[in-house]
Amino acid sequence: MADLSVSLGKLRLSNPVLVASGTFGYGEDYQDLVSLKRLGALVTKTITLKKREGNPAPRIVETYQGMLNSIGLENPGFKGFVETQLPFMRKIGIPVIVSISADKAVQFARLARALSRTAGVAAIELNISCPNLGKKGLIAQDARSVYKVVKATRRATKLPIITKLSPNVTDIGAIAKAAGKGGSDIISLVNTYFAMAVDVQTRTPKLGSISGGLSGPAIKPQALWMVRQAYKAVKIPIIGMGGIMNAQDALEFIVCGASAIAVGTATFVDPQSATKIIAGIESYLEEKRIPNLKKVIGSLKDGK
Ligand code: FUM
Repeated sequence: MADLSVSLGKLRLSNPVLVASGTFGYGEDYQDLVSLKRLGALVTKTITLKKREGNPAPRIVETYQGMLNSIGLENPGFKGFVETQLPFMRKIGIPVIVSISADKAVQFARLARALSRTAGVAAIELNISCPNLGKKGLIAQDARSVYKVVKATRRATKLPIITKLSPNVTDIGAIAKAAGKGGSDIISLVNTYFAMAVDVQTRTPKLGSISGGLSGPAIKPQALWMVRQAYKAVKIPIIGMGGIMNAQDALEFIVCGASAIAVGTATFVDPQSATKIIAGIESYLEEKRIPNLKKVIGSLKDGK
């Protein structure tokens, strides 16, 4: 059997396949459909300090080869999460990565500190790249703001920090470097692309909040390119995502430098996508007689 285990700094995973934030809820809804303990890790829907109702409906629109969402970080807030969602996740027996969002560095730090004192949290993902929070720019679009948020969170916790980056930037390498300099142990990319859809019959936006974030296979080649640029820019481990539908897609990200990958939109098509991808990666290694997945990470032969 090939060894699929990976270490992302201090975060050790039995295999490199995660379920992406916002696409798997808090796991409980999938317990009858998916062998949850097979997953490399579960990344929760993003939580905030206070409960949020999210954006007005409609909040999901299907597009060619993709999906738009404008959920707006609906979540039960820190207290509700710890009381109602975390107890189930603790029992699964896989690393639980809690995604967090806030307006300011000090609030990210507050949430991280509170999570550090909460049993059952393996790592924190800083969601600084949600495209659905209104007119203000994304933290992930400004290197100095990224540094500030990561640094403040770093001071507040010893848990591994994953910083989730946006594709809506000019120079992903500069943003990845800022996250690393601030003390991020890992980066994850990409979140969704700013996008919209229009109903020509009514000449109105299809999403209640006008714009949203595009995910799914439509963005995969762009996401792959972003991961490659980030891999060249920083030495910290990368979790790659963006339109991964099957094991071949996942392996493309791994070859380009991702130490692990996250499955998102594919779960809406087939809830078992992530576990099928794990099996597919295993078969690839066995067919190629590669004993260890680590040999594949960043192995792109591009002459550089
Ligand atoms: O709107 C949302 O809840 C999506 C979040 C994200 O893409 O980070």
